[in-house]
Amino acid sequence: MPQHFDFLVIGSGIAGLSYATKLAIHFEETGQPVRIAVITKVRADETNTKYAQGGIAAVWAVEDSFEKHIEDTMIAGDFLSKREVVEIVVREAPERIRELIDYGTRFDKEDDGDYDLAREGGHSDHRILHFKDITGAEIERALLEKTQSLPAIQVFTHYYAVDLITRHHLGETVHRYDTDNRCFGAYVLNTHTGQVEMFLAKTTLLATGGIGNVYQSTTNPTIATGDGIAMAYRAKSICKDMEFIQFHPTALYEPGKKPSFLISEAVRGFGGILKTIKGETFMENYDDRLSLAPRDIVARAIDSEMKKSGDPHVYLDVTHCDFEKFVEHFPNITAYCRDNLGIDIRKDYIPVVPAQHYLCGGIKVNEFGQTNINFLYAAGECSCTGLHGANRLASNSLLEAVVFGHRAYLKTVENFNEASIPDNLPEWNDAGTTHPEELVLVTEMQRELESIMSNYVGIVRTNRRMKRAMDRLELIYLEHEELYRQSKVSNRICELRNMIEVAYLIIKAAMARHDNRGLHFNQDIEKETA
Ligand code: FAD
Ligand code: SIN
Repeated sequence: MPQHFDFLVIGSGIAGLSYATKLAIHFEETGQPVRIAVITKVRADETNTKYAQGGIAAVWAVEDSFEKHIEDTMIAGDFLSKREVVEIVVREAPERIRELIDYGTRFDKEDDGDYDLAREGGHSDHRILHFKDITGAEIERALLEKTQSLPAIQVFTHYYAVDLITRHHLGETVHRYDTDNRCFGAYVLNTHTGQVEMFLAKTTLLATGGIGNVYQSTTNPTIATGDGIAMAYRAKSICKDMEFIQFHPTALYEPGKKPSFLISEAVRGFGGILKTIKGETFMENYDDRLSLAPRDIVARAIDSEMKKSGDPHVYLDVTHCDFEKFVEHFPNITAYCRDNLGIDIRKDYIPVVPAQHYLCGGIKVNEFGQTNINFLYAAGECSCTGLHGANRLASNSLLEAVVFGHRAYLKTVENFNEASIPDNLPEWNDAGTTHPEELVLVTEMQRELESIMSNYVGIVRTNRRMKRAMDRLELIYLEHEELYRQSKVSNRICELRNMIEVAYLIIKAAMARHDNRGLHFNQDIEKETA
């Protein structure tokens, strides 16, 4: 039997929870009873949001200005960001952060009671609000507690969205650029029972986060498999800027560990200096902003140094920093390095390497989070608002998610009365499928996919590498489609299907780009223009 909701929110990170919270508060105030379902594929707090370290950017200090934050975002994005969107996000930031504080989020303060503002790469001023080095966990905690206090919201944990329900399911032919496609909710695998249920909703928000697991090494938790992007693409949404994959310059070097533990950029903002294994600085050869240059530049510089020397990592040196203050600001990083690698940051350098961290592109949305499919919204990392352009400025992601969660909420409320659900939508049909006997195929295909993406579509690309990636991917795609058609759905099979689709979108976008901008660096283009 289908379950009926007014709103379906797929994802319980900052984007999904802030949107659901706002809707619940709004309808509580107007006295109109509504049902809001928030579904999450594992535990509610297992999100990219929970792992965010550095913080959330906003103009807060009197000496800072919106203009400076706007310019920093444009420069980091290599001027491919949409200026109107940058202006919206930067100007709305303080208000959205005040709301997070009202919902119970704590940010660190100075002794005089003012917020302690950190600085990160690409920022011309101190403007990062943070809670020690576990800002995301604090935001996630506060938002989850807030949602639990709102009776309109029902959180379904271990529910996996398989596909969106659209006009296609009414037997109609839908094309990608049609303007009358429409979303009615999603088919959702209840992993407690193994059954696919129909979650019908007048409005659906995709807030499914990142794609990190398409790559061999990533800072993203295992949930980040690009499900929302793949579901939206299959439903004929438009995806944009998929070639712009951000590699964080400083993931802790622990070979074979997935996800990689992040050494926050705020550590470089605090004075940390990048050095080669020989202990020599090198950033002066790449950028005047040294270790605090935007991420694309720092990650490429590290990659180039590692290639030149053949070393498996570089170092981050914090031995000159005030130890007590460092521990106060970065207790989690200090403890992790000590407990897992025996590093005493007072005298040892921290070994670091770049790792996939963030997708700047995603499902194309307008300035209210609306996709090209009616009543389907997207917010957070799975969406492409135009804020990040070719490279995201540090700590602008949590901010984008909360600003667009709010803007999607405004439009959802405005359009609410127009929404309705037809009564002839079909239930999930898995007749003729069986549980696959061997999941080793899935494991192997996943391994191959990660290897292709890391080796051929990573920090430095070439035409030949990208073509090879596309050719190899096609074989995996065909193999997996056959398996998918025969199998009862499971998280693993669906996740791999989605990752293959996301990889396809990344490679296609990378091959279509004929200039080197921000995070996209093709050596062949560099040679042609040299
Ligand atoms: P997420 O928080 O990732 O939430 C995704 C949700 O979608 C999860 O609940 C998941 O279960 C659910 N989901 C996914 N697929 C399905 C499915 N098929 N069915 C059901 N549910 C599904 N950004 C900053 O601005 N500042 C920082 O300091 C910062 N530090 C970071 C540090 C790390 C280690 C990482 C990984 C990221 C960091 N980022 C930072 C980026 C930022 O954390 C993320 O971009 C942001 O939290 C994404 O939020 P979201 O709500 O879009 O998605
Ligand atoms: C970090 O703390 O370095 C991550 C910040 C971000 O991804 O914005």
